[in-house]
Amino acid sequence: MKQIIMTAVVGLVSLSPLQAQNIPVYLDETKPVEQRIDDALSRMTLDEKIAVIHAQSKFSSPGVKRLGFPDLWTDDGPHGVRPDVLWDEWVQAGQTNDSCVAFPALTCLAATWNPEMARLYGENLGEEALYRKKSVILGPGVNIYRTPLGGRNFEYMGEDPLLASWMVVPYVQGLQSKGVAACVKHYALNNDEEYRHQVNVVISDRALHEIYLPAFKAAVTEGKAWSIMGAYNLYKNQHNCHNAILLNKILKQDWGFDGVVISDWGGCHDTNEAVTNGLDLEFGTWTDGLTMGRTNAYDSYHMAVAYKKAIREGRYTTKELDEKVRRVLRLFYRTTMQREKPFGFLCSASHYEAALRIAQEGIVLLKNEPVKKGKSPLLPLDLSTMKRILVVGENAIKMMTVGGGSSSLKVQKEILPLDGLQARIKDVVIDYARGYVGDTIQSFDGVTVGRKLYDPRSAAELTAEAVEKAAKADVVIFFGGLNKAGYQDSEGHDRQQYGLPYGQDALMEALLTVNKNLVYVNISGNGVAMPWLQKVPAIVQGWFVGSESGEAIASVLCGDVNPSGKLPFTWYASLEQCGAHALNTYPGTWREDHQIIDEEYKEGIYVGYRWMDKQNVKPLFAFGHGLSYTTFKIGKVTADKQQLSANEKITFTIPVTNTGSRAGAETVQLYISDKQASVDRPLKELKAFQKVLLQPGETQQVSLTIGSEALSFYDETRGEWKAEPGDFEALIGSSSDQLKQKISFMLK
Ligand code: BGC
Repeated sequence: MKQIIMTAVVGLVSLSPLQAQNIPVYLDETKPVEQRIDDALSRMTLDEKIAVIHAQSKFSSPGVKRLGFPDLWTDDGPHGVRPDVLWDEWVQAGQTNDSCVAFPALTCLAATWNPEMARLYGENLGEEALYRKKSVILGPGVNIYRTPLGGRNFEYMGEDPLLASWMVVPYVQGLQSKGVAACVKHYALNNDEEYRHQVNVVISDRALHEIYLPAFKAAVTEGKAWSIMGAYNLYKNQHNCHNAILLNKILKQDWGFDGVVISDWGGCHDTNEAVTNGLDLEFGTWTDGLTMGRTNAYDSYHMAVAYKKAIREGRYTTKELDEKVRRVLRLFYRTTMQREKPFGFLCSASHYEAALRIAQEGIVLLKNEPVKKGKSPLLPLDLSTMKRILVVGENAIKMMTVGGGSSSLKVQKEILPLDGLQARIKDVVIDYARGYVGDTIQSFDGVTVGRKLYDPRSAAELTAEAVEKAAKADVVIFFGGLNKAGYQDSEGHDRQQYGLPYGQDALMEALLTVNKNLVYVNISGNGVAMPWLQKVPAIVQGWFVGSESGEAIASVLCGDVNPSGKLPFTWYASLEQCGAHALNTYPGTWREDHQIIDEEYKEGIYVGYRWMDKQNVKPLFAFGHGLSYTTFKIGKVTADKQQLSANEKITFTIPVTNTGSRAGAETVQLYISDKQASVDRPLKELKAFQKVLLQPGETQQVSLTIGSEALSFYDETRGEWKAEPGDFEALIGSSSDQLKQKISFMLK
């Protein structure tokens, strides 16, 4: 056998010079990619070049048929592979082979504080995409959580630039390791949804670079993302899909991005700006013909016939066009033309397992106290003492993978919380009461929701039923929160209130009058007000965790899994606690002509915990907060030096001990405080973290290393990062408000 293989190999090798004479350079895999691109480019006609820089259907753009480049298929993103839609319709095509696995929403991924989970996520999603023959996944999203009203916060990775950076890089790498491009979105400053096509963000350079750009930068410079999606909104009065500063200057020139800038669907508005300001591939433009379903609507794209005509008339040379085509060809070689891709799988057991693991690591135990002093905390549920559990709430029976906008999926399965609990708990009666009716929509883009949600009963009747049943139960588990309906956690609009919708607060109060053994599981991608917080002993943040929701949540509630998620954002007590709202900057101020709304990010760099520290305000739950069923001790921190110079690193070592009786994971967080600076600086900023799994009694030494870049700020006067010599302090602990370990050091 070995000999046969050897002969075959020798045969191939000896044939190759001969073959090489016949293979054009652009197809010759032995040649460097850039050479192949040059060759392909030199063979393409103007029409072929124009064709590859704009869409030909809702989600595809053409390859170059004559030369053998296949079409490029994109798809949403970011939580699973969206069902196929019709060629030029948003409605799903009704295929029977496109049901996917829904992975947890990105807020949940961020809450794992575990970059390995992000890698696992990317790899598994990549395999699903490969099976579905998609070469670009429209995600991940890394817009910063600036206001808890943001309709798409669930698709993003929280409020902190370092956390989002550390999580986005392995996601991108994992996905692209399968030969599927990430399309990191929405670049940039798309931090809320209301009037998203008209918002002009007014922001200081410092806040832009310190808060809103780092995750994009990391995705590009470290993750090596192959594509990026421009955002709908404007910055400095120019739409971001063709924004000269964001695309040409920062992304391409400063960060050296060699991939493709794709417009968000309908985000391109102007041929000249698109040509000159760095857009490479135009998608979703809602130009004339499109609304009418005209067959050649795609010719009306800004970078289609209008651009070709302008070149023919000599208004542009092909310089910009060739640059765009070069990038698109590079994307082809990385994806469609890459032969060494692995095989794809859809809905494999390994994908479900990955979705479950990520969900279990991301669920956050926000509060866990005993109902009576001296007793054990309410969670995990002590099933041996129980006869009857009452599950309350629409979110226990509502599919959350359907709805919310472009991230909506058609899943092969979604285990609902009530079903997950019923499957897990066998010897205790599980009763259910709806409690409230929220959103009863049964389908989104033609994908239907399994369970019928229509309920004609009045709020009073629903409450009465829930209260009556609660009085007889040993424990009540209330699944509430938001959902994927418009004006909730959903694209296109923001939430209209911080409080829970559909009368859930009143229901909660009513339940508490008859049963204090109440666990509240909040399903959302955003924080919500909790006026009843003090009265509820146990609160769990259950996010939108996808296909394995019910199983994941049940495993945490029952203690099969010890929760280890940490909040990726500050959970405000009220909207006024959030800087954007305290300064009345949201949603902005309409200009006189009512075309543009200016949203000035007046809080600057003081987003999330940075604002809380500055104002000295306590939120409901701090950034980085998350409890466990065991306890940890974070011991005395030591540093390997007291002083470092600009090109050196400093390592902090911290012993962490599991002081409880069951295995669990703790995330050690390192924040830096600049003791004297020439500019105003946040009291502290997250600069490193590490999650460690510890057996009962076990101690591990956690080492966290930073360089001088972690001490720097963006110097607006010079337009660059700067670390000023002087005194710093490292603050270490288990959340942004629990930083008991401190050590001082100096930058020389
Ligand atoms: C969304 C993008 C999405 C695209 C394609 C747009 O409306 O903003 O995030 O990828 O549609 O569905």
